[in-house]
Amino acid sequence: MLGVWEGGNASAAARAPQVAAVVARALAASPAFTGREGQVLTVLAPEGVAAERLVLLGLGPFGGMEPHRARRLGAAVAAALGCSGAGTLAVDLDLDPEAAAAFAQGLVLRLPDPSPWHSRPDPAAAPTVRAATLRLAATAAAEDLWQRARAEAEGVLLARGLVEAPGNILTPTAFVERARALEVLDVRVEVIQGVTALEAAGCGLLAAVGRASAHPPALVTLTWPGHGAAAAAPPLVLVGKGITFDTGGLSLKPADGMERMKGDMGGAAAVLGAVHALAAMQAACPVVGVLAIAENMPGGDALRPGDILRACNGLTVEVVDTDAEGRLVLADAIAHATAARRPRAVVDVATLTGAVVTSLGRHMGGLFCSDAALATALRALGDGVGEPLWPLPLDPALDDDLRSDVADLLQCAPAGRFLPDALHAARFLSRFVPAGVPWAHLDIAGLAWTDDDRPLSRRGATGFGVRLLTALAHRLAV
Ligand code: BES
Ligand code: MN
Ligand code: ZN
Repeated sequence: MLGVWEGGNASAAARAPQVAAVVARALAASPAFTGREGQVLTVLAPEGVAAERLVLLGLGPFGGMEPHRARRLGAAVAAALGCSGAGTLAVDLDLDPEAAAAFAQGLVLRLPDPSPWHSRPDPAAAPTVRAATLRLAATAAAEDLWQRARAEAEGVLLARGLVEAPGNILTPTAFVERARALEVLDVRVEVIQGVTALEAAGCGLLAAVGRASAHPPALVTLTWPGHGAAAAAPPLVLVGKGITFDTGGLSLKPADGMERMKGDMGGAAAVLGAVHALAAMQAACPVVGVLAIAENMPGGDALRPGDILRACNGLTVEVVDTDAEGRLVLADAIAHATAARRPRAVVDVATLTGAVVTSLGRHMGGLFCSDAALATALRALGDGVGEPLWPLPLDPALDDDLRSDVADLLQCAPAGRFLPDALHAARFLSRFVPAGVPWAHLDIAGLAWTDDDRPLSRRGATGFGVRLLTALAHRLAV
């Protein structure tokens, strides 16, 4: 595989004497191939070249090869050639080590990844690419960069697999077991499981949301101490919404589209994927991941509108709509995670509101943040890894709407439609974060799943958040 810049200029490797003639002929014969980023032109049985096929890859506008462009290129290659019959790729794109690691990560992120639940998998959909060799100008640090990039990609694939698993397979119990599997990476895994245990721990909100399900709710704490970190170093705390299926509870959702609510644990999946990645790469930053896991079901013992619950920081909450369950489980998880430790920062991630999809769509996550430096870092990192966020306000004026006559706090404004529910939800959560702790809330309801293929992720679960959270942990370590 060789590169061609937009406008048709071959990269240095593609001008090498052994291939220059074949490349020139292929370009002359294919005017539609302009070198646009990600374009692929395949020459079968290229004359005088010891390969089954020569692939020309459009590199986009001539200039720098920043890592994220390289990542998209790797992904474009995987999408174009993943099941083409090609088994091994030899890639010569004049990449530096950082771009090469990103390219290889893109390749892994976009290889075909058929459903594990077909009884007779379609052989034509199975990936044929087994290995890729990248030739680099300089190799210093390349191995380390690749180990990191690979660990991140593993975390993304882990998160996607969880989001795609349906509610009958990824029950709360099964999710807890998947989290426990991180013990092999020396992650400490603590589990508070079952309604009684959660209530005993004070987590009345999470217990109530999970109460009507046949599968007990759980609060999972994953601790990665940080490779070589001082024991007292304050950790980055990541909190994820892990509703394995959201029926809405008694405030039942309409049947139309309800199947998508199998992905309502995308936030917890991103946290689990990020902790997996950080442990697998032996990251220096201490990280604590907290998963609020439950299934939101109606039933004879279900949470009701009007119920009053007590959270683990002592605040009481009046329930309005059992379908606004995400903010309840997150509130307990945030309060629990910050009760006995002083974090460097808290970032929660959740498929929280339909309102954020209405306002920001499906290409940017909503960012609510109490700390300007953390917000700036998250936006810059998100842009850099292709997981962009857009800032939304934590507006104190909305607190009036969350005032209850009978409890400390109202769960959401009554009649959620036409109200800025994503903003209300963020404001609600802010009451469970201790004062002075930098906190960000990422509402990724529009991003955990995609119905169409995207540059870095084929249609289905995206694993959104894993690379962003991993990058944040890296940033905090330096
Ligand atoms: N899980 C949903 C939010 C959601 C919507 C996620 C679309 C992914 C895609 C959340 O629990 C929910 O149901 N929110 C309600 C809140 C309302 C009842 C105040 C919503 O957004 O309609
Ligand atoms: Mn809901
Ligand atoms: Zn939900």
